[in-house]
Amino acid sequence: PIDKSTNTVWHHATVTRKRREEKNRHKSVVLWFTGLSGAGKSTLAHAVEERLFQHGFNTFVLDGDNVRHGLCGDLGFSNEDRRENIRRISETAKLMLEAGTITLTAFISPFRAERAMARSLMPHGDFIEIHCYCPLDICEQRDVKGLYKKARKGEIKDFTGISSPYEEPENPELRIDTSAHHLEDCVEMVISLLRSRYILP
Ligand code: PPS
Repeated sequence: PIDKSTNTVWHHATVTRKRREEKNRHKSVVLWFTGLSGAGKSTLAHAVEERLFQHGFNTFVLDGDNVRHGLCGDLGFSNEDRRENIRRISETAKLMLEAGTITLTAFISPFRAERAMARSLMPHGDFIEIHCYCPLDICEQRDVKGLYKKARKGEIKDFTGISSPYEEPENPELRIDTSAHHLEDCVEMVISLLRSRYILP
């Protein structure tokens, strides 16, 4: 978008991210879940959040369906609108990183360029991309919301995996095949990754 914010000056806070992290006794980080509709992004993000929250961590899930009711309620599913959706989410996630939170985002985020853009907004190591992989035919069999059926009938246009592309991550920090593992095992994979990166003790 065109930057119209002329005549604004960045205000430096005295309560910094570092001080918040010290108070919270944990680092902040963005866990970016990406994958097809029905691949298990929201389910996994919420299950990981539940585990972290029970351990006393400050957490928040930004979820596609929810955000599209408010912050991104004016956006549809054209390539352009998806780009703007991800831009707003990534800026929000960046603010939450400063706020000291472990933020988990669950958006299809189908385009590599937008995921790379989101990554580039955060300091190195603070953006962790988690590919919730699930074969399309299994997502379609699950069809929790009945959307694939509608997309096949042509009732929903630009549907990811059917009539709109999903560009698989080439180098995610973690790739989890949600069709091959139980939810609890998937949660464990994420937790192990966070431990190996010293984000969790
Ligand atoms: S994106 O591509 O990242 O901007 O999409 P996202 O914000 O994650 O929204 C995906 C959810 O919207 C519902 N939905 C669609 N998905 C894909 N394509 C089309 N055309 C579409 N229309 C509605 C769907 O419920 C997605 O939820 P999830 O949780 O991914 O199944």
